[in-house]
Order: sequence, then C-alpha cells, then structure tokens
Amino acid sequence: MTQNGSSVRLEWDGKRAAVPPAARLVRTAEVCRTPDEVLAPEPNRLILGDNLLAMAALLPLWEGRLRLIYADPPFGTGKGFTRRVGSGEDSRRPEEWLLAEGYSDAWDGPDAYLEHLYPRLVLMHRLLAEDGSLYLHLDWRAVHHARLLLDEIFGQQQILNEIIWVYHGPSPVRTYFNRKHDTLLAYRKGRQHVFNADEVRIPYDDSTRRTFASSAKAGFGRTPDLDRGKVPEDWWYFPVVARLHTERTGYPTQKPEALLERILRASSGPGDWVGDFYCGSGTTLRVAESTGRRWIGADLSPQAAQVCQRRLALAESLGFAVEEALSLEAGASAENAPLPPVAALRVRSEVDGTEIRLQLEAMTPCAPQGFPISLDYWEVDFDFQPPVFHSTSQAARPWRRGLAPLSLSHRYPQRGSHRVKVRAVGASGETAEAEIPIEV
Ligand SMILES: C[S@@+](CC[C@H](N)C(=O)[O-])C[C@H]1O[C@@H](n2cnc3c(N)ncnc32)[C@H](O)[C@@H]1O
Repeated sequence: MTQNGSSVRLEWDGKRAAVPPAARLVRTAEVCRTPDEVLAPEPNRLILGDNLLAMAALLPLWEGRLRLIYADPPFGTGKGFTRRVGSGEDSRRPEEWLLAEGYSDAWDGPDAYLEHLYPRLVLMHRLLAEDGSLYLHLDWRAVHHARLLLDEIFGQQQILNEIIWVYHGPSPVRTYFNRKHDTLLAYRKGRQHVFNADEVRIPYDDSTRRTFASSAKAGFGRTPDLDRGKVPEDWWYFPVVARLHTERTGYPTQKPEALLERILRASSGPGDWVGDFYCGSGTTLRVAESTGRRWIGADLSPQAAQVCQRRLALAESLGFAVEEALSLEAGASAENAPLPPVAALRVRSEVDGTEIRLQLEAMTPCAPQGFPISLDYWEVDFDFQPPVFHSTSQAARPWRRGLAPLSLSHRYPQRGSHRVKVRAVGASGETAEAEIPIEV
C-alpha cells in the first residue's frame, strides 16, 4: 500500500524515493512596464533552470499554496525538437527563418523518463493547495505510466478526469490511424477541489436545442437550462497552434491559449496562484495574465525564457521577477543549460535635460536576417544597481510582421549620474548587453 492508499504501483529498474534536492533561487532581474510600477511583495516569477531545483527551492515558502498546476513535460518522443526562428518563421521563404535548437525529448530508455517525471510529480503534489488540482498533459507514449504514478502520489480515488484533446493536422501514416489526440490527467490533491462550472460552460449544439424544442419528453422530462449552456464533456476540440495563428510564437509544441483558458477558468479563480514548471513559450503565463491569476513559470531552456519575456512584453503583463534555480548539492554545476551565444550591441544615447533617449543602432550577430529585422526583444534598466537588473522599458518584435521599436526613452525625476544597462535578444537566441554611464 502506498502512502495515498493505492495498492497498484509502477516499478522500474532503479526506482528511488523522491527526495527533493537542496536548491536555491537567485533573482537576476525584475521586469516592470514603467518606472513607476512597484513589483508586488510576492511577484509573478519566471524561473530559468531545472524544475526539480526550482520546485525544491520553492517548497519552504510555497508548499500547499498553488491552486492549480498545469504540466506539459516532454512526451517521451525520443527526439530533439527544433524551432524555426526569424521574422518570417511562418513563411515558405527559407531566407526568412533559420532552424534552431528547440528542446530535447531524448531519454536513455523509458526508465530515465520515469526517473525524470516521478520526483517532479511528487513536488507538484506538495506545492498544490489542499483544494488544488494538477493537469498533466501527455500523449499515448507515457500517459498510461503517468496514470499509475499519479495514482501512487495523489491516491487512486483523486483522479477527476482523463481529458482527451483532439485536433487535426497533416500526417503521412498509412499503416495505422492518425494519432491526433493528447491526454490530460486531472487530479485533485484533497477531498474538495475548485471547479468553476459556470466559467467554462459552452452553448448546447443546435441538434440538442431542436430535440428539446420538439419533445417535452426529451431528457426524461428534465429540460436543461439551454441558455446557460453546458459544462463541457471530457473530450475537447481546439485547433493546434498552426502557421498564421496570431498567438503563434514559433516555440515547438506550443499549446493553444484556448485550452489553457478552459483549464485556468475551471480550476482556479482570479488572484489564485497557478504554476507551470515546463512553461515553454509561456502559454499558461499569458493566459494567467489575461484571466487575472498570479503565476510561477519555470523552464530549463534559456530560449523558452526569452520567448516568455517577449510574449509577456507584447501582452503588457504586470511586472514579474526573473530567477535562476541553482543546486546546492556538493559538486553540482551552477549551469543549468548551455548559454546562448553572445552578440555585440551598439547603442546611441542623447540627453536632453533630465530625459535620455536611447537608439539601438546595431546588434552583431543577429541571425538569420541581421539587425534590425531579427531583433526580437530589448529592455533597459535606466538606473542599474548590480546585481539585479531592473527592466523598466521594453520593446519587442510583434509575432506576425514588423520590427521591434528601436528607441526607448526615460525621464529622471532629478539631475544626477546613472548607469544605464541595455539587454537585447536576437531571433536565434543571441543575447547582448551594453552599459552606458550618463549624466543628466
Ligand atoms: C512540451 S514543452 C512545453 C510547451 C508549453 N506548454 C507551451 O505552450 O509553449 C516542454 C518544455 O519543458 C521544458 N523542460 C524539459 N525538461 C525540463 C526540466 N527538467 N525543467 C524545466 N523545464 C524543462 C522544455 O525546455 C520545454 O520548453
């Protein structure tokens, strides 16, 4: 019998008890939309690093506090994902985009995949509030293993739904049916859980309306409130994020905002904390913003963090903290992932009274199409005081067409000397920094 009363358990060679590693979070930046915005005492947080470290470091202050966790880990496909980058990543013209590294989903066998998932699901369970829920998003490859892991961790009776997300898409297969659905396992932690049925109702379809209009006996004499709509079934259709969709970021396996919106509205309320520790392009964070939830996101990939920052800037999100998850275990490397290539930046500054205007003049390299076309995002701390970068002005290239604005300005409340620090990100992940001493 496991701790949560499940007598069925998944075993694999080398299965170990899930002990959280010693870890800490280091705040490296704060992003505010204006110099006047004051970051909340507990701001939204974007964490770069292994989520095992991120969640372990959150535990002391965050155990039992998240109302909802959405987890969209690598599915165990055994391959590395690439991503198209550049201003025309949705274009058929090869000069407008470049293939860059996405994220790895290659494992040293199924045991290694389970070794990855198991301790992370244990931490998610601990971080959830007593009335909180987890939605674990997988597909046919690993979902049946994960079901047993979740039964063990949450308890067999804690499953709320097995949700099937269906979609269309091209497929070359001729020897079996096209695999066009993913599975989301929804579990609750405690005896009660948040479920806001009225937030996710959908209209009854026309045939149902006609049936009830034609016969009073339909529905065994009970007529539903047809105008209020119905709580959706546990199978959902949403189109995948395809070329030309306005929400498309180019990040591989990006999930639709509509899917996340249904989950967030059903299983959390405004002001609740929502976690996504495989946040990728930041779909959950974006939807949490637009629905008034607070969020903690984490991802191992610096490119994911860059896409999230750009996405949040374009959405004019509230301010948030950027952190790195570091291991405190003896001998552990402080580096989480390969660092992106470094580029050089040329910035011109003009001072007029107490106002400063910055003009971004060059970034090299800036692939695939050079500066300014392939400049994705830049931001400025007009009063840099190490070690934390306080970004108070940002400019981002829109997703579909257009350039990132190349000038940013700031008015100081009074005369004095300041260190201005500029950070920029190119489409293929290059990062660049420049520091300018100024006197206003
Ligand atoms: C399926 S994608 C998530 C996509 C995301 N839901 C979206 O809409 O863009 C999985 C993500 O998990 C991240 N990842 C893989 N292993 C990780 C780990 N140990 N810690 C944190 N993130 C990890 C990858 O970098 C990738 O961005």
